[in-house]
Amino acid sequence: MNQREREMDRWTWLRNLWEMKEIFGQKLMTYHLPPHLVPNNLYGISVIITGATSGIGLRTAQELAKAGAHVIMACRNTKAASKIACQWKEEAHNSIVPNVEVMELDLLSLSSVRQFAAAWEQRAKALNILINNAGVYLMGEPQKFTDEGLEQHIQVNHIAPAMLSLLLLPSLLRAPSSRIIHVNSVAHHCAVVETKYWNSRIEEHKFSSFKAYGSSKLAHLMFLKILANKLVEQKKTSIQCLAVHPGVVSTNLVPAFQKKSFWMFDSVEGARSVLFCATSAEVEAHLVKGFAYYTCNCKPARMSPHTADMDACLDVWQKTMEILQLNTDYLSHVMTGMCDKS
Ligand SMILES: NC(=O)c1ccc[n+]([C@@H]2O[C@H](COP(=O)([O-])OP(=O)(O)OC[C@H]3O[C@@H](n4cnc5c(N)ncnc54)[C@H](OP(=O)(O)O)[C@@H]3O)[C@@H](O)[C@H]2O)c1
Repeated sequence: MNQREREMDRWTWLRNLWEMKEIFGQKLMTYHLPPHLVPNNLYGISVIITGATSGIGLRTAQELAKAGAHVIMACRNTKAASKIACQWKEEAHNSIVPNVEVMELDLLSLSSVRQFAAAWEQRAKALNILINNAGVYLMGEPQKFTDEGLEQHIQVNHIAPAMLSLLLLPSLLRAPSSRIIHVNSVAHHCAVVETKYWNSRIEEHKFSSFKAYGSSKLAHLMFLKILANKLVEQKKTSIQCLAVHPGVVSTNLVPAFQKKSFWMFDSVEGARSVLFCATSAEVEAHLVKGFAYYTCNCKPARMSPHTADMDACLDVWQKTMEILQLNTDYLSHVMTGMCDKS
């Protein structure tokens, strides 16, 4: 490393540290907000939410169901999801019974994603909101690969949700307006994307699960930005794409987060910005080419400068399409298919 590179490295490190300030300041940043957000009447709105069996996903799904939405809990543990859905229905007693159903989806298997999308698509219904919430952070664990040969964080946090969004585009386009929400993380600021390591081993001593987690979140931001831009280019402005950092939330994501500290959010507070991005009309004013990134105080926030590098974003898009074995003009095919049917 030469002198200039060392200096840049120092600045990058300081900038990342500055962006992470919201981790400890999140309670201050949100003191003026209600503890949880109750969406308006959502009758007639369909929502698919992944990872609704615990943490942020569970609370988001519950609030959406209470507001009258048709909520599809897309979960790998269908038994746990069904139990939760039954409980909500029982708790509703005198009020309206929530319209919740459970469908199986395991993001560790791309064929499970395909089967889920095919089963949903068979209904030929409109989908209003897709919330890609499920995620993993294998803190302190060594590098692990899935049966598809992909590093685990990149598959669960980026590739599988990207596939889900792409395969559900026809349903999302059927709705007069729809949103794709990705539950992202401020940890993306501390990462770079090196696509070559998505399906090849990095030297063990160089692997860091925190960097792999952050990198998968950064990759999805870059992918979603391109997807949004491409939809706008094709004049499909009915789909809005948003990514959101929910705050540091006491959930099952990390064992150390299961015990809530005073500066952390509980899962209800964690669901607040996700619900805001999924349902508020306010976000429309902040979309740039169909895309926006929000943080835990329900306000647009700065993303890593890597997301401004359009060549790098396109590289992420291309590598993703390559892994998913989707043609580069997949989007045009989807659009043409929609036109042919209408
Ligand atoms: N907690 C935080 O501080 C924080 C901060 C920033 C971002 N986030 C993001 O918020 C999202 C939700 O996390 P959380 O904190 O609520 O954690 P959580 O309580 O661990 O919930 C994660 C959910 O994802 C599901 N999931 C994991 N692997 C899956 C797979 N292969 N297929 C299908 N579903 C799978 C889990 O299902 P099982 O129950 O079956 O495992 C669970 O329902 C994640 O994307 C996370 O990265 C969290």
